[in-house]
Amino acid sequence: MNIHINSTNQDDMQTLIIGVPEHMNQLKDIVYHEQSLIDDLNVLKKNHIIQGAIGKLATSIIYIQQQPKRLVTVGLGNVKELTYADYLIIWGNVFQFLKQEHITEAELLLTSFLSPHIEEDVVTKTLGLQSEQAIYQFDNYKSDKRAPYQPDLYVNVDRDLEKIETNIQEGRTIGEAINLAREFSQIPPNLLTPQYFAELVLQRFKDSSVKVDIKDGQSIQSEGFGLIHAVGKGSMHEPRVITMRYEGGRNNEKPIVLVGKGITYDSGGYSIKSKTGMQTMKFDMCGAANVVAMIEVARQLALPINIIGIIASAENMINDKAMKPDDVYTALSGETVEVLNTDAEGRLVLGDAVAYATQFQPQVILDFATLTGAAIVALGEDKAAAFESNAREQLNTILTISKTVDEQVFELPITNTERQLIKNSDVADLVNHTNGQGKALFAASFISHFSGSVPHLHFDIAGPATTNKMSHKGPKGPTGYMIPTIVEWLKSL
Ligand code: BES
Ligand code: MN
Ligand code: ZN
Repeated sequence: MNIHINSTNQDDMQTLIIGVPEHMNQLKDIVYHEQSLIDDLNVLKKNHIIQGAIGKLATSIIYIQQQPKRLVTVGLGNVKELTYADYLIIWGNVFQFLKQEHITEAELLLTSFLSPHIEEDVVTKTLGLQSEQAIYQFDNYKSDKRAPYQPDLYVNVDRDLEKIETNIQEGRTIGEAINLAREFSQIPPNLLTPQYFAELVLQRFKDSSVKVDIKDGQSIQSEGFGLIHAVGKGSMHEPRVITMRYEGGRNNEKPIVLVGKGITYDSGGYSIKSKTGMQTMKFDMCGAANVVAMIEVARQLALPINIIGIIASAENMINDKAMKPDDVYTALSGETVEVLNTDAEGRLVLGDAVAYATQFQPQVILDFATLTGAAIVALGEDKAAAFESNAREQLNTILTISKTVDEQVFELPITNTERQLIKNSDVADLVNHTNGQGKALFAASFISHFSGSVPHLHFDIAGPATTNKMSHKGPKGPTGYMIPTIVEWLKSL
């Protein structure tokens, strides 16, 4: 969406977008082309032609200087109680409606959406975010493509023009990043191999301040990434370790390391998945895609910190070289790992990636992974599970921030029980699987083991990384989960 910010009203605009409160006594006088709209709006409201229930859309006609215009109204509910989440609904519904109606040009009167009960920043950032996120579409592989929807939105403001422009742009940047993560995640797995994923990341950051380094299958093996090698060797498509460096901070400042699980397809390997369990396993690289997006936002917002992104990418397949249950491999840390379940591959690649991350002497390591079905059993499809190791404060901050940007992240523990269980191998130092319960905790404990004493947060996004129904945040499919939360957190550092 092209957004233009102006302090004067547009001429010859066919469509006008206005927010209307549930209670008409909350309606402010809206002036358009020096004409007060309040009487017209009151009549429309009284006759139930327009509605004020939150997110409720209506189209009608309004006469401006004797000329008819299409009036699109959206309900604001009780403007004394509006939240960030409500504005996501309001803007999501507005932009999805414009798209559905093929409206290519509209003027939005921002003043009608503002209220003394909510910060202007929330209103403008959610506008920018939803102008991208809510109307995303993916039809790269359809013969019958819809034309890309690129409307012009003229946002009319009566003050703070520059600040509003900056905030809308910041929201858009985050929305575009979510769409970038969605785009990567949607690519079919016969095309998005670890090698192609690496090429796409290289391409994305070409000629930018982000430096990208790729380790191929050969280097992964020779440099001792034994667990990533083990997961990847059952596929004709070799694994990759992709490192992105964004240096916005001082030279000597310790980096934040963001690690992403990048399994481009998870068949389960010899511990093979069921035919329905295997469907959608192209999305097992959503954590990695989201990390690329987070770095892209850091770059665009020129955040004054150092960030390193590490993607462990492999395809979990079956051939005569594939790892099998009972195998033992040596991790990058030097420890041996018994593989009892080849479908518990995420913790293997992340174990090596987190051990690698510690080499950068980070302030804290965060990993994002579609890791366990057990996290979905525990929290439902719509919540991320968070685990911490020596990073209590960072987690508290992130949990608080998540609530302000309408994301649901809840903590699960790593206790001595899990710290002992991962050592419960008859033949090796560690084991990748337990037959017992608490499988999300076990997996978290396994990954955290490789961070040693370095502060580490693990986010299991198996549930919310994708959604199977469309909403005001966009179509079904990948969601870019935790990008908004982590961007806000990075900004706060
Ligand atoms: N990628 C899956 C986890 C997953 C499941 C993500 C469903 C999204 C939806 C992961 O690699 C996996 O297979 N986990 C196993 C672990 C088990 C073998 C201990 C699981 O959760 O069943
Ligand atoms: Mn698996
Ligand atoms: Zn997996």
